[in-house]
Amino acid sequence: KQTAFIFDLDGVIVDTAKFHFLAWQKLANKIGINFSEKENEQLKGVSRVKSLEKILSWGNKTLSDEEFQRLMNEKNQDYLNYVKQMTEADILPGVNSFLDDLKAKNHPIALGSASKNAKTILKCVKLSDTFEAIIDGTVVSKAKPDPEVFLKAAQCLNTTPSNCIVFEDSIAGIQAANAGGMTSIGIGDKNTLHEADFCFSNFLQFDYPFFKNIKMKA
Ligand code: G6P
Ligand code: MG
Repeated sequence: KQTAFIFDLDGVIVDTAKFHFLAWQKLANKIGINFSEKENEQLKGVSRVKSLEKILSWGNKTLSDEEFQRLMNEKNQDYLNYVKQMTEADILPGVNSFLDDLKAKNHPIALGSASKNAKTILKCVKLSDTFEAIIDGTVVSKAKPDPEVFLKAAQCLNTTPSNCIVFEDSIAGIQAANAGGMTSIGIGDKNTLHEADFCFSNFLQFDYPFFKNIKMKA
């Protein structure tokens, strides 16, 4: 049976991680909370609601439900203003050719993202028809590191977790893939993503043949 591949979106397919960072930083600074790359790392892969909860807890702040909603919407508007300017040129290096190789060899591929903006982003970068299954923040109830998003993706692809390889740039996402019994590939810094089964700094660091001989987790 052909190995199935599941891709996170933000920070794996497209570099929206930098836009999330800018939008959260603006919001945090506005309410007097310090926000650097270090804090941002802990928000990668984490849902919008959980992200704001974390930021508030770092600054020992609480908000009314109304204010919480308002700030979350404001962050998303700022974020979408960046996203809307994206084109195919913003797909991360090596991603398109790797996806083409997988499709040519008939591997099932799915998207597994915490984002509620996933479909908007895919449209901007012209990848709307690339994935057989799209599991995003609109259909998942338990956020990464819970494996729900990836288990749903495997189910949609009609395959078992042990037959899946997951690409992730976040700590929470690697933990989710591992918890689901899938082989995890970190895209980013090896020290940060040390829980991943394999780690590469980007998609130019490996090629399709690597996955022909890969030792799967289960
Ligand atoms: C991804 C990103 C997170 C983001 C989350 C929700 O996992 O890595 O930084 O908070 O999606 O995204 P959304 O687009 O719904 O705010
Ligand atoms: Mg990500």
